[in-house]
Amino acid sequence: MVGMVKELSAGVYHYNPHEHSIKLLVEGDIRKPLARACVAQMFIADAPISIVITAEYGRITDRYGDRGVRYAHMEVGHVGQNIHLQAEALGLGTVVIGAFMDDEVAGILHLPDKHRPLYVMPVGHM
Ligand SMILES: Cc1cc2nc3c(=O)[nH]c(=O)nc-3n(C[C@H](O)[C@H](O)[C@H](O)COP(=O)(O)O)c2cc1C
Repeated sequence: MVGMVKELSAGVYHYNPHEHSIKLLVEGDIRKPLARACVAQMFIADAPISIVITAEYGRITDRYGDRGVRYAHMEVGHVGQNIHLQAEALGLGTVVIGAFMDDEVAGILHLPDKHRPLYVMPVGHM
């Protein structure tokens, strides 16, 4: 989810890890609605981008049963830590946001039904 980024129009983008590419899904600056859905933590709307990490639980529980939910939550912590490290390396700031209304965030991002948001990570200059 992006706004005010040079050479990238505002919108919601999906990251494809296999191709290391992003694809525009929803046009427009949705930072304010996103911040409101994060229990009105409005500083989120000031960040040029927020990375939203989602889980599709069925893909991991099919393999590991109910324990897969635990693994998804461990993995989102690892991903969040890596984003923290990369932000630090680039001289940027970030924070993990866990306080948000799941269904509102999913609606704003037009997430497919099975994709559940786990972390919102605004990234910007300190
Ligand atoms: C699961 C989880 C959810 C969090 N949710 C929020 C949040 O919604 N808003 C926020 O400002 N910080 C949130 N934080 C960040 C913490 O408030 C804190 O900034 C972070 O854990 C680093 O703390 P430290 O600098 O004291 O080590 C969350 C942290 C974790 C681990």
